[in-house]
Amino acid sequence: TVLVVDFGAQYAQLIARRVREARVYSEIVPHTMPVAAMLAKNPKAIILSGGPSSVYAEGAPAVDPALFQAGVPAFGICYGFQAMARALGGTVAHTGRSEFGRTDLAVQAEGTLLQGVDTGTKVWMSHGDSVTAAPAGFAVLAGTPDTPVAAFEDTARGLAGVQWHPEVLHSEHGQAVLQHFLYEIAGARPTWTMANIVDETVTAVRAQVGAKRVICALSGGVDSAVAAALVQKAVGAQLTCVYVDHGLMRQGETEQVERDYVAATGVDLHVVDAADRFLTQLKGVEDPEEKRKIIGREFIRVFETAARDIVAAAGEDGVEPVEFLVQGTLYPDVVESGGGEGTANIKSHHNVGGLPDDLQFTLIEPLRTLFKDEVRAVGEELGLPAEMVWRQPFPGPGLAIRIVGAVDSERLAILRRADAIARAELTAAGLDREVWQFPVVLLADVRSVGVQGDGRTYGHPIVLRPVSSEDAMTADWSRLPYEVLERISTRITNEVREVNRVVLDVTSKPPGTIEWE
Ligand code: XMP
Repeated sequence: TVLVVDFGAQYAQLIARRVREARVYSEIVPHTMPVAAMLAKNPKAIILSGGPSSVYAEGAPAVDPALFQAGVPAFGICYGFQAMARALGGTVAHTGRSEFGRTDLAVQAEGTLLQGVDTGTKVWMSHGDSVTAAPAGFAVLAGTPDTPVAAFEDTARGLAGVQWHPEVLHSEHGQAVLQHFLYEIAGARPTWTMANIVDETVTAVRAQVGAKRVICALSGGVDSAVAAALVQKAVGAQLTCVYVDHGLMRQGETEQVERDYVAATGVDLHVVDAADRFLTQLKGVEDPEEKRKIIGREFIRVFETAARDIVAAAGEDGVEPVEFLVQGTLYPDVVESGGGEGTANIKSHHNVGGLPDDLQFTLIEPLRTLFKDEVRAVGEELGLPAEMVWRQPFPGPGLAIRIVGAVDSERLAILRRADAIARAELTAAGLDREVWQFPVVLLADVRSVGVQGDGRTYGHPIVLRPVSSEDAMTADWSRLPYEVLERISTRITNEVREVNRVVLDVTSKPPGTIEWE
């Protein structure tokens, strides 16, 4: 394990991901964790992240020098670099010359850390203070016009650091620098492979579950699909999956779960067709929050009933009762809930329908240590269909929040056809992975005049909302090629009779959210 000590930087998760891209397992810990607790995790190395503060600011998180006396290799980044310098007797000064953004590096000596990094390499900076003198025993490797000491190392003690952010893509050779530290200075080995992740998780789930039974809610999304497939690999027929079809899915999605997922995993799947029930409850409801409440509530009811049926069936004839519920909680959820520590039952708010706390199950969270890209890689390793593994995020309430106005089966059918065309053309253009998400929205209460053939039409507009994003917190509208937009527009207006206009949403988030409701 490599520990990434989080000094409150927005970069700690990114650092942890880059370490894992180097196939070394990493975990994020808060800077408030005592050094003894960090060492108790027996880390191969410790990385000190950047942070928002100046090392001299009041309340600035300091680094306990004991960290460097334990003989564990350490790498400081930005704030972590300065904190390391200061803790070991170097000088950090407020030079009055801040650097933000792209900076040219002047390399004085490559050392071990900067092998293959030339003078003129562009690195991403974001700092006010600077290290003006390295601690004794360190070799200074590089500087910049405004930073006398921008990189140093003491390979005998396994210590190194850089002022810039090697974890961001804008820093050239960033991953190489990180790997020089990990492999050559810290002696870490690239053993965190997808095959090992699968093996370790399967072993852990087996140990936890024993002979008991497990249920899992599948939503059609990547996380629940991969979580279930892992558990299925571990305990086979002891797992039953429940897929609640709320009738608000896109074309082909329910079939994909019913057919392709079962074919790929052989899992015992319990499909509940609850479309009528959801549509009845949603009848005439226009308010987006009201729609969400109804869908969330009904989802829980349907799932609870299904779970009870399965539990009852499992209890017969001396078959072990159901004790566990699988959740697709990811590592960022764990970190953001202030955790990563212990086995606290952190409720993920992003998961299927937000199942209630009083469901009497023990949680199994096989993805708790994984980032999204790792979840996808595990899904591929397990042989899940590519369309499932690379599926773009889709909201739990489904198409209900992509129909502006009340939801009914006719409107759903219109939107489904338009959406299927937009998705097919995006795929045909090879743009699926460039676009984060591509909501297609039906303005069900808006009509406009058109002309098709020789006749006047009075149809509905469809809104295309392709966006690019990193984490859905912010987003920008995707600059899709005109030819792709043209094909989508032509096909939708030709093939979906009720639609006579296609418009493009060119709003970023903020101010607009990704979804229209
Ligand atoms: P917004 O529209 O707020 O969405 O920019 C951000 C991300 O969250 C998804 N989303 C939802 N997911 N239940 C969900 O499970 C919801 O009610 C919901 N609303 C939005 C949205 O698709 C985007 O990925």
